[in-house]
Amino acid sequence: MNQIKVVDLKKNYINGKIVHEVLKGIDFSVDEGEFVSICGPSGSGKTTLLYVLGGLEPYTAGSVVLFDQELNTYSDGAKAKLRSQDIGFVFQFYNLIPNLTVYENVLLSSVLGTFKSKDEVMEYLDAVGMKDFHGYYPSELSGGMQQRVAIARCLVNDPRIIFADEPIGNLDYKNGIQIMELFKKLNVTYHKTILMVTHNEDTTQYGTRTLHMLDGKVIKDEKNNS
Ligand SMILES: Nc1ncnc2c1ncn2[C@@H]1O[C@H](COP(=O)(O)OP(=O)(O)OP(=O)(O)O)[C@@H](O)[C@H]1O
Ligand SMILES: [Mg+2]
Repeated sequence: MNQIKVVDLKKNYINGKIVHEVLKGIDFSVDEGEFVSICGPSGSGKTTLLYVLGGLEPYTAGSVVLFDQELNTYSDGAKAKLRSQDIGFVFQFYNLIPNLTVYENVLLSSVLGTFKSKDEVMEYLDAVGMKDFHGYYPSELSGGMQQRVAIARCLVNDPRIIFADEPIGNLDYKNGIQIMELFKKLNVTYHKTILMVTHNEDTTQYGTRTLHMLDGKVIKDEKNNS
């Protein structure tokens, strides 16, 4: 089943009188259970595409259908539910709240979405290998550990689609591999649809499909062999 359908999507940023065309007509759709890597050079529009699909940025023209509804026809309430429950974001720099513990960071996310008990929050921390660190503060953790917590925070509301923007871009090789294995598990075991921006072509092997972007367009859309 299609979860995302994008038709002739265009996005401009306007600075004063200068119109910057960032997405220049993009077409693709994503089925439930796909793990799509989005790669391309810096400035090609990868982050912008992810933010538009996740409703964080408006689009200028074309169509984005998410779960069978045109994104710009979602009411404010429906958009809030979409962001808090149906989709999840993982960012390069984790974005954890520094004065909350690991447990509290994940709990807060559930309070904003689908309130979870302490035992349930702990189960999500266990799933990402961070249960034993539930009382730690983000500053006491390595980058890889912080990213695991950020993934638990995203998972706690059981999103159907996970958007990740260079989630291993700030990690060393070993931690990067571990986080990629975790995303693969979320896709294979938990059946999450994943759209992941990556700079590194090597990491596209973890996905089922790769979209190559250049200058605001998708220039290649290939299924991965697995
Ligand atoms: N808020 C903004 N206002 C104006 N221009 C923007 C804005 N955000 C992005 N851009 C421009 O849009 C283009 C695409 O940016 P985007 O961040 O989507 O690229 P990217 O492919 O994610 O690059 P990177 O690999 O460096 O993260 C760039 O030229 C950028 O300068
Ligand atoms: Mg980017």
